[in-house]
Amino acid sequence: MHAAIAVAHPNVALVKYWGKRDRVLNLPAVGSISVTLAGLSTVTRVCFDGTLERDEVIVEGLPGGEAGARVAAFLDLVRGMAGVDAHARVESRNDFPTGAGLASSASAFAALALAATRAAGLKLSRRELSILARRGSGSAARSVFGGFVEWHRGERGDGLDAFAEQLLPEDAWPLVVLVAVTSQMPKPVGSTEGMELSRLTSPFWPAWVESAPAMLAAMREAIAARDLARVGELAEHSCLAMHAVAMSARPGLVYWNAATVAAMHAVRELRRAGVEAYFTVDAGPQVKVLAAPGDAGRVREVLGAVPGVERVIDSGPGPEARLYDEARLGRT
Ligand code: PMV
Repeated sequence: MHAAIAVAHPNVALVKYWGKRDRVLNLPAVGSISVTLAGLSTVTRVCFDGTLERDEVIVEGLPGGEAGARVAAFLDLVRGMAGVDAHARVESRNDFPTGAGLASSASAFAALALAATRAAGLKLSRRELSILARRGSGSAARSVFGGFVEWHRGERGDGLDAFAEQLLPEDAWPLVVLVAVTSQMPKPVGSTEGMELSRLTSPFWPAWVESAPAMLAAMREAIAARDLARVGELAEHSCLAMHAVAMSARPGLVYWNAATVAAMHAVRELRRAGVEAYFTVDAGPQVKVLAAPGDAGRVREVLGAVPGVERVIDSGPGPEARLYDEARLGRT
């Protein structure tokens, strides 16, 4: 039996990934930039065991259902790379709501890629790990790294240039990211389906793809300069542009609820009052707000008072995916 445990964190996209250029290899139509989130974690244990007749996937203590098939397909990739035949038992836990726009698939597949490859006896480079994690979920390619991260669109058909890399380490810029949770329900349309619908039916799709390189270049510069106003303005723009594409699909995709919109307005109201706070929203109803550490208290208070905001989670730039020492956890 060969086991490994890994921990990884979700990330929030500052320049959004929305749309694929290849569905099988999970290659993005546009590059993206994110910040990995401290505190929120997925912990995943993988154990290859020759006595198992099939892969066993336990998520939050329960059999993985649909997620189980996705994990098994991912394990097939790892088995192919490592020349391993055995099935595996996978146990995974999150300490945040699953499937509601907190990018749980990002931390899930980053942790799974690291734990499964180590359990199968492979030691991949970070770039190789990012390329592998991408196959499970696009945004997982970014959660392999800590801090500020860019995932390259790449040009190649085999996806070997569609990896993520770090732009700035997590301790290089002390920002806060406050997550306003407005619903814990799973989202009605998953990101893969939403992206395909957007690509195939939104009249804004070509403009979205064409505008991506300039957005990425501007964000790269703003992050290098640690310019919160610029990063925030670009992040809001990319968020609203992505949602405009999704909303203009047929049928239109509306990932927001009333509290999402109210929180967005509250953030802009804060700015009018002189507080540097900026929102972004992924394919779900939660609002993530970027701010300077000195303003965190005020922003948290305002977000917490928005009707429909259930709770506000404190985060900031967090670390890369990493292995847990099995012995320290007292498991064998
Ligand atoms: O990684 P996926 O397939 O769950 O897609 C994530 C898409 C967004 O969260 C909406 C944007 C992003 O860049 O993370």
